Amino acid sequence: MSRAFPLSRTTGPVSEEERRTILAAPGFGKFFTDHMASATWTPAKGWHDHKVTALAPYSLHPSAAVLHYAQEIFEGLKAYRHADGSVWLFRPEFNARRFARSAERLALPVLPEEDFLTSVEELVRADEAWVPSSPDEKSLYLRPFMFASEAFLGVRPAEQIAYSVIASPAGPYFAGGVTGITLWVSSNYTRAGRGGTGAAKCGGNYASSLAAQIESRKNGCDQVLFLDDTGGEGDLEESGTMNLCLVTSAGELVTPALGNILDGVTRDSILSLAGEFGLTPVERPITLSELRSGAADGTVTEVFAAGTAAVVTPIVGFKGESKGEGYAFTIGTGTPGKQTLAIREHMLDIQYGRAEDVHGWMRRVV
Ligand SMILES: Cc1ncc(COP(=O)(O)O)c(C=O)c1O
Repeated sequence: MSRAFPLSRTTGPVSEEERRTILAAPGFGKFFTDHMASATWTPAKGWHDHKVTALAPYSLHPSAAVLHYAQEIFEGLKAYRHADGSVWLFRPEFNARRFARSAERLALPVLPEEDFLTSVEELVRADEAWVPSSPDEKSLYLRPFMFASEAFLGVRPAEQIAYSVIASPAGPYFAGGVTGITLWVSSNYTRAGRGGTGAAKCGGNYASSLAAQIESRKNGCDQVLFLDDTGGEGDLEESGTMNLCLVTSAGELVTPALGNILDGVTRDSILSLAGEFGLTPVERPITLSELRSGAADGTVTEVFAAGTAAVVTPIVGFKGESKGEGYAFTIGTGTPGKQTLAIREHMLDIQYGRAEDVHGWMRRVV
């Protein structure tokens, strides 16, 4: 049975005027709403102290396990306001299930999926005024997370765990129109190995991706493309915060198979939608040389990345290094692909209630 997250309203909310200024240009991850949802877990009491309260800093002992051993997981999803003022989540059940799988991998207690959903929904209801209005692709980004808060310097699963959800208004990802990006194919760094945490959404994965991100910027690229490191010449995995999809001249939408990568909700949804664009969805390993030769001979017609933040980001080129030699190649004409842009628009139309939700993906909150 799901637990309630009772609301104690803040006595010091951000003024309406300030909130309006923030919502006019929220950017990403810079501003936070008035409340947070939370719950605590201990072996003796299980999950308890469910609540929605004023957003406030934590008080953590310097020995808190998360600060030393990174026993932590998180999620990311958005609330969208439709033209009639209602507020909706996109497939939050998918995030709830993925959060449970991440918890198991990081030896954290599983939060019941219903509690995940209730915490997110109650926070959105409490901070409804922070959900920006459509139609300009703004949203309220929701960040559920869980970490080892126990004060103990021993390497074992912690016995006091904090769960919270915070919310941050987000602006349109491509404010000046959708542009294509170039990926740096990292040969110095990998993101995940067999048996590692690649499929979990844990902070450590992102910490270890930052050096590669710096390398990609130094080489004039926008993001990293990670390769599999388990032998062979390296299968394509994913970008720093997005899954990878290829469109081929044979009418396929190909994406790397699950295993060491994040099971993205955007990736999964696009696989379901592929048929509507005349594309056959295919999940399989893709090698770097297949991508390079496909780009050269035109069998790979479009490439894009998929994730909650940007929905769909066209990838127009790749750069990398092989045996000490730099290389670079473009996809098609080096501009965003037609199918890519059409899929992006369709996903946004579903999320903002402009297209019929035939898959039953949207969940109304307000
Ligand atoms: C490593 C990684 N891959 C893929 C994704 C895309 O996942 P989703 O579509 O669920 O946002 C994300 C974003 O959360 C990510 O961090």
